[in-house]
Amino acid sequence: MGPGLFNFGTFMAHSLDFVGHALRAPLGKEVTMHILVLGGSPKGESSLTLRYVRFLALKFPEHSFEELHVATSIRTLERDGDALEALAAKVQAADAVIFAFPLYVCLVHADYKRFFELVEERGLMEAFSGKPALLLSSSVHWFDHTALEYVRGMAEDWGMGICGVYSAAMRDLTKAEERARIESFGRIAFKRAASGELPHRETAPRPAWDYAYTPRGGGVPVASGGLKLLIVTDGAPGSGIRAMAERFQTLFDGTSELVDLNVLPMKGGCQGCIRCGLDNQCIYGDSDGVKAVYREKLRQADIVVWAYAIRDRYWSARAKTFIDRRFLDTHQPNAVGKQVVYLVSGPLSDHANLRQIMVGMEEFGGGHLAAVVTDESRDAVVIDGAIRGAVERAVECHQAGYEAPRTFLGVAGAKIFRDEIWGPLRFPFVGDHRYYKAHGLYDFPQRQWGIRLKNTLLRALVLLPPVRRAILADMKSHMVQPLDGVLASLRRPDGGS
Ligand SMILES: Cc1cc2nc3c(=O)[nH]c(=O)nc-3n(C[C@H](O)[C@H](O)[C@H](O)COP(=O)(O)O)c2cc1C
Repeated sequence: MGPGLFNFGTFMAHSLDFVGHALRAPLGKEVTMHILVLGGSPKGESSLTLRYVRFLALKFPEHSFEELHVATSIRTLERDGDALEALAAKVQAADAVIFAFPLYVCLVHADYKRFFELVEERGLMEAFSGKPALLLSSSVHWFDHTALEYVRGMAEDWGMGICGVYSAAMRDLTKAEERARIESFGRIAFKRAASGELPHRETAPRPAWDYAYTPRGGGVPVASGGLKLLIVTDGAPGSGIRAMAERFQTLFDGTSELVDLNVLPMKGGCQGCIRCGLDNQCIYGDSDGVKAVYREKLRQADIVVWAYAIRDRYWSARAKTFIDRRFLDTHQPNAVGKQVVYLVSGPLSDHANLRQIMVGMEEFGGGHLAAVVTDESRDAVVIDGAIRGAVERAVECHQAGYEAPRTFLGVAGAKIFRDEIWGPLRFPFVGDHRYYKAHGLYDFPQRQWGIRLKNTLLRALVLLPPVRRAILADMKSHMVQPLDGVLASLRRPDGGS
């Protein structure tokens, strides 16, 4: 498609809620680049992320900026092929593109995700190819890296060169030193974008995937002792991932329910309105089927299975819509004590970023990721065995009450939310504040009086040279001493501690 295909009159007639927010350079200054901003916020004009773009526009008046609210226009873009082509023509005519998006549950918002799908469905990637791109997100830095990696991967798949990546915290623009940092970023990234040389790609290309699992059948169901199973899938009947989900269900002998996201009534995606903040009531209420899944079916389940097929570098936008709507529980873990299994169709081992999102989500959710099964072996017998193994593991872990300790993703993520809810986000997230207080999630170190006393004493003692020498001479054994004490007590005949 050439730039000539773009007709402004036609574009406007499609009644998109795009806003042509052009900030032109003052007279006498040379406009060096026309920069197209693809906005990913469900809040459109009220997007906080766009304020960062506008700051750059103010600081670099030699460039012109044009904003398109892609996420809020997604239904139009879906319905109206001409509107999407018009957008692609704008991309092709631009000198550079800024992907400007908020973080939504470790990724971009579902409607922005849908945009990436649409471009590929309609084969419009060529318009993006060879363009310099900047990635600009705003967030509380909770899994911002996985969202940025997703967009980088997609843009690089389309042949774009990433000239700059900026992860702004929500309130950065209010701080002088952060404004200086963003300005520096803009100077470096725009210079790079204008240089005519595209940076090399940093993500590996996506492998193609065409396998669909067909179960072999048979096998005695695993005795679960009356546990309840919930399976959520975006796999339509007849698909490989649906077959994996159904196989899991067949091999489980307890009560089970399968929720098909293709038919679950979902009126729309999360609107970012934060009405949920005060008392965890989502604006959609009971008007569609999402609340019942999270509030009733998930709460009642002992074992939860998420069964998704990889679509581009994540699951489908349909699945993401459901995942974003999880935010009715805001920053509160909603799967505490549950065993969680992922069934995945597609080459998960090539998607380390997606794997990180899965683990991070579950560690935050408070459940225990008991098993991950993929169809990567392309062998129905092997997959059957793996699904059976996952059922057994989930049941066994539940019966043993076993939950693996959280890793960095869960531990660090919890600290970010703890600090945000204690501080800047306490309003409007007062529901979270109540929950964090009630569940002991405000585990700041300042209340640990024993440790504080010990630290104060030791800091004073090491000022004495002989004590200092003694401690430093045997630091290693000091560190294992408490653990050795536990082992010694366990070796006592009574095994007491
Ligand atoms: C439903 C929802 C999910 C969110 N998920 C994340 C997240 O995973 N990580 C994060 O750091 N911030 C997350 N945020 C915070 C937003 O990314 C942040 O407020 C952003 O600045 C909003 O930008 P916008 O006004 O342009 O939409 C989330 C906010 C909402 C409402």
